[in-house]
Amino acid sequence: MVSERSVALFVHILGAVALAIAMGMVQVVGSRIRTASDITELRLWLGLMKSTGALWPASFGTILLSGLYLAGTGWSFGSPWIVTAIGSVVVMGALGRGVVGRSFASLGQGAGRASQLDLELIARVNRPGLWATTTALNGMAIGVLWLMVSKPGWGQSLSVVVLLGLLGAGAGERLARRSGVAQRGVLD
Ligand code: HEM
Repeated sequence: MVSERSVALFVHILGAVALAIAMGMVQVVGSRIRTASDITELRLWLGLMKSTGALWPASFGTILLSGLYLAGTGWSFGSPWIVTAIGSVVVMGALGRGVVGRSFASLGQGAGRASQLDLELIARVNRPGLWATTTALNGMAIGVLWLMVSKPGWGQSLSVVVLLGLLGAGAGERLARRSGVAQRGVLD
């Protein structure tokens, strides 16, 4: 007999898989965006990026609802790893929507209006804050995954998510700076 909890855990992990797909697509398509050599290529990859849009609310919603059910039926809402996971998912959703989603939407509009890939557009495409945020989200998600399997106390719960988030942000910032230099080189 399949229990309700097993179904909820299955749905929860399905949400985590969808999130991993969305994050993977953002990194792969993102690297194409940062290395686009002309405006047509840039528009093409930004269009593909737009298609990941629905995956984010769907995966976050699925993870959060099923996670709340799992936490309420088998654990306590006072457990450090659960509180940290809920906080992390809320922060990730806010950054994803507020920074990543908005930046790609505005880049899409800018690329739609532009007649060519000029220095101004290249600077916008390689804005370190955008890529630092996308990779910070990846780091935080890996941190939350660790919380799920090890269920640690406050110290480890907070430090793992913060540390991996910061490591991710640093990696994204470096990626953007490097690709900005390379993409400007295409115009020379
Ligand atoms: C990025 C976000 C998240 C990911 C990738 C994720 C992933 C996972 C995975 C893979 C498991 C299975 C672990 C195992 O069976 O050992 C799990 C279990 C669980 N998750 Fe999450 N989760 C996330 C967010 C959340 C949130 C926000 C909550 C709380 C609202 C939550 C609550 C739970 C609970 C209660 C379990 C069951 C733990 C158990 O009974 O062993 N998760 N999660």
